[in-house]
Amino acid sequence: MNGPIERFRRSPEGRFLAVFGKADKLLTSLWWSLIALRGVLPAIFAIAMGALVTAVQTHHSLTGSLATIGLVFVGMNSLSPVHGTVGSLLGAKAGAWLHDRLMESSVEPDGITHLERPDLADDLARAREFDQGLVAPPLEAALPYIASGFSDIAAAVAQAILLLTYHWWAGLLLAAAWGSTHILLKESAMWQVFEAEGVVNQRRHVEYAYRMTVDAPGAKEIRLFGLADWAVGRFTELRRKLTDVLYHERRLRQRPLGWSLLFIVAANAIVFGSLANDATHHHIALGALVKFAQASIGVALLAFGEFDWWFRGSARPIPAVLDLAEQMRTGGSLRSGSRPADGLPAHRITFEGVHFTYPTTGMKVLEGFDLTIPAGGSMAIVGPNGAGKTTLAKLLCHLYDPTAGVVRVDGIDLREFDRDSWRSRIAAVFQDYVRFELPLRDNVAPLGAPDTEIVKALERAGASDLASIDTILSRAYEGGTDLSGGQWQRVALARALCAVQLGAGVILLDEPTAQLDVRGEAEIFDRILQATRGLTTILISHRFSTVRHADLICVLEHGRVVELGSHDELMAIDGRYRTMFELQASRFYTEEVEATTPELSGGANR
Ligand SMILES: Nc1ncnc2c1ncn2[C@@H]1O[C@H](COP(=O)(O)OP(=O)(O)OP(=O)(O)O)[C@@H](O)[C@H]1O
Ligand SMILES: [Mg+2]
Repeated sequence: MNGPIERFRRSPEGRFLAVFGKADKLLTSLWWSLIALRGVLPAIFAIAMGALVTAVQTHHSLTGSLATIGLVFVGMNSLSPVHGTVGSLLGAKAGAWLHDRLMESSVEPDGITHLERPDLADDLARAREFDQGLVAPPLEAALPYIASGFSDIAAAVAQAILLLTYHWWAGLLLAAAWGSTHILLKESAMWQVFEAEGVVNQRRHVEYAYRMTVDAPGAKEIRLFGLADWAVGRFTELRRKLTDVLYHERRLRQRPLGWSLLFIVAANAIVFGSLANDATHHHIALGALVKFAQASIGVALLAFGEFDWWFRGSARPIPAVLDLAEQMRTGGSLRSGSRPADGLPAHRITFEGVHFTYPTTGMKVLEGFDLTIPAGGSMAIVGPNGAGKTTLAKLLCHLYDPTAGVVRVDGIDLREFDRDSWRSRIAAVFQDYVRFELPLRDNVAPLGAPDTEIVKALERAGASDLASIDTILSRAYEGGTDLSGGQWQRVALARALCAVQLGAGVILLDEPTAQLDVRGEAEIFDRILQATRGLTTILISHRFSTVRHADLICVLEHGRVVELGSHDELMAIDGRYRTMFELQASRFYTEEVEATTPELSGGANR
């Protein structure tokens, strides 16, 4: 079971070659057939040359051998570009197939832990680079070279076999001598450059330093803090270090080089010496001499060239790509059942003794958390940064399983529901909501919705005059437009409101108005309340002017509920909520007066 073939099949190179057939069977057969054809042609050429000389010597017709030589010569020269094209196509297909596997690895797991674990995230980043020329040559560029390499090896083997008909040892000796370069020069890192850990890391640093300096996101800070010289200097220094590492890695090791040269010279001296000796003593005919001399030269194609570099370099990242799926699957798996969640919750959502620790950091965020959220009403959750509010929201969406305890919907453990069925009940705006570089329409309803629903959702979110629904929300595209932070937030709200219109029963808003101006916030919140009347609304916010309208307010601190009640009740008990509310109210009063009285806000500067 563990023979050389099995070992090769499991090696990066073996797994790399196996990808081709999965990506495109027809192209792969064509690719290998061309290798075989290009492999036998030089041996036929040598035979035909020998036959030509013999024909001249014996005064026979030259037509057959000349025609063969001509045909083979044309074949040897014209197949190479055809093979190159087939190789690039196959490389592109194999690259696409591997990208598909990566996509599946990221998207398939139910949870999101696999994307947050630094080790897996790093693996994913590396695996993704397989086709970007950072850790390996891009497949599209590599395959033509690999094809030529295989063809050369096939040609060398065919000619070594031809030499066996001269003396059994001649073919073997030359093949061993030229072939030894692969082993002896293995450590002479000509082709190891991409593999060297130092190079890979250094390339990443250089790449980031470059992007940080020239890309738009850093442009403001670079100018404002006068960082231009620092950033350029940093890039130059990193670049110089990369050149040093590359130089170091690319040097050929002298001793193995000496040994292989010695071996090659000796083997050639023996074979050509023997041919010369046989010729002098008339032990060999002229035609055979030409044939075998030509074949002896041809075996040199077996020597180490660019092939190893391309082949091993391209194969190196493939196991990472292929194995990632499995690691991600276990890393991001969640318990999920098959119960439909249609129409839920009808009564309540409860957190019962919930403990939660992020698997990535091991830090306990929730410890014995209990909370009942009545269905059909609104619950606000307030608390300091890092208290665990967003974590609660993610647990409710079943993006993680609690470490201990249970989240129930109408008394049923969340993990018993079909994951998609439950998630389709929830419309959410997360704190770090996604901004799709897609038309406004797709930002509001990525899976599609009637235009009337999209327009209605945008109106409710106060976003109807931002752009036409077909405008792409990024200036990077023709006719596209950029939005401000607050405008994007309205689009995210419209996405959640559209989901509500299409049937979601729970709306979860994590800091939905953090980037809105004071008046915008008040106005939008009224509209949200109207649109979500009768639905279970969970609002996480630091803005007490918004929070106060909720039916129930939960004050969270260090993963525990410290106060729970309506605004009036919490004001009456004179605890944390009241302190925070009054602190903010005094600040908000000033902001609001400034916002509504232009002479106050701008007056001082005029
Ligand atoms: N994906 C994550 N992986 C590891 N730790 C996390 C992750 N997300 C949050 N945490 C940690 O969990 C704790 C609670 O974070 P959470 O985001 O729930 O706080 P929050 O109450 O929403 O805070 P904020 O008001 O700043 O939004 C924090 O200490 C945070 O560092
Ligand atoms: Mg948060």
